Amino acid sequence: MADADAARIPRHIAIVMDGNGRWAKARHRPRSFGHNAGRKALREVVEGCLREGVQALTVFAFSSENWQRPQDEVGALMELFVRALDKEVDELHQHGVRMRFVGDLGAFDPTLRQRMNQAIAHTAGNDKLHLNVAVNYGGRWDVVQAARKAAEAVARGEFRADEIDEQLLGHWMSLAELPPLDLFIRTGGELRISNFLLWQAAYAELYFTDTLWPDFDQACLRGAIEEYARRERRFGRTGEQVAVKAST
Ligand code: IPE
Ligand code: IPE
Ligand code: MG
Repeated sequence: MADADAARIPRHIAIVMDGNGRWAKARHRPRSFGHNAGRKALREVVEGCLREGVQALTVFAFSSENWQRPQDEVGALMELFVRALDKEVDELHQHGVRMRFVGDLGAFDPTLRQRMNQAIAHTAGNDKLHLNVAVNYGGRWDVVQAARKAAEAVARGEFRADEIDEQLLGHWMSLAELPPLDLFIRTGGELRISNFLLWQAAYAELYFTDTLWPDFDQACLRGAIEEYARRERRFGRTGEQVAVKAST
């Protein structure tokens, strides 16, 4: 029974934390106010994941396309990241959370990069929950950087080009060392992936909700997990095949 219960908890959840701007607008406040409220929602959801026994949580905090936003919003977001790292890392560490950042980190200023590296080092020994924050991340970038590593390995003579298959390329994708992505959540009502985890989401269950990210709380997370538990994951097989496998 315990195993059957565990199977209903997604091992790895990804979230497109969308809707901060609209949440702030509804309150006649600047967009940065919404981003700040979004940070609190993330804290709630991390606690929820710890409570539910989720192994990995990957959140989209800043996309490679978000640089196109007005400069003051980008600046406010960068400040928020630094503040959040300063304030939250200790508590995350106490909860046994291991932090990592995924994306092209070279674009960030040295202060922020240093904070990120400190957070990674500080929490490296933890394993209760893997929290991956995607910053300057794009799903296409991820495929490209993996392809580049594959090409370099071929150039070094470690592999032949015809040995590069899905499994091998998959090793070079971000998050390859973590459990497969089971549940992909997007808040804020938009029905799109926005260049998030394209490769990793190939067989994830997709869950879209109109709830704006700052309003997404532990009850909302529970709702998404319950919906996930009701889904039949067939991976190309028939429903009958899946039922036989589940009963053996
Ligand atoms: C998501 O909220 C947060 C980031 C992209 C950093 P938005 O800022 O996109 O909020 P909406 O979509 O405008 O409401
Ligand atoms: C996706 O949200 C990126 C993050 C949540 C960080 P956006 O609000 O930028 O997505 P689009 O542009 O509306 O698709
Ligand atoms: Mg948005």
